[in-house]
Amino acid sequence: MNLAAGLDTRPYRLDLPASLEWIESDLPAMIEEKERVLGDAQPRCRLKRIKADLTDPAARVAMLREAVGSTTPVLVITEGLLIYLDDAQVRALAADLLAEPSIRWWLLDRLENRCWCIRSCEPRRSSGACRGF
Ligand SMILES: C[S@@+](CC[C@H](N)C(=O)[O-])C[C@H]1O[C@@H](n2cnc3c(N)ncnc32)[C@H](O)[C@@H]1O
Repeated sequence: MNLAAGLDTRPYRLDLPASLEWIESDLPAMIEEKERVLGDAQPRCRLKRIKADLTDPAARVAMLREAVGSTTPVLVITEGLLIYLDDAQVRALAADLLAEPSIRWWLLDRLENRCWCIRSCEPRRSSGACRGF
C-alpha cells in the first residue's frame, strides 16, 4: 500500500505478479489528475486507488479499513509524505497503521533537521546556508 503515492507508477513498471494487490492513496485532486494522465494504461497487478486526506483522522482510519480489509500481510510505503505532516499527525498515522493487524511493515523516508555536507560526509545542523544543500 503506497500512501501519498503521487504520480508513482510502480504497478505499471515493475515485474509484479498479476495476483498482487497494490493499493494507492492520495488526496482526491492528485488521484483524479493521475487517472487522467494514465488514461487507459494497464497496471501489471491488481490496483486500487483510494482518495483520502491523511491528516483527517476519520478519513485516514476509514481509508485504511477499506484498503487492507482482509488482505494480509501488508507493506505500507510512504515516500515524501511525512514532511507534509506535523509531529502529532505522524504519530497518529503510526498509531493507525499499528492498529491494523494485517499491516506488517512500514517503509518510510525521513528528513532530519540537519543536512550532510557532501565534501566531508559529516552531518551538520541545518542553517539557512546549508538547508537543501
Ligand atoms: C513529494 S510527493 C511524493 C509522491 C510520491 N510518493 C513519490 O515519492 O513520488 C507528496 C505527495 O503527498 C501527497 N500528500 C500531501 N499531503 C497529503 C495528505 N494530507 N493526504 C494525502 N496525501 C497527501 C501529495 O498529494 C503528493 O502526492
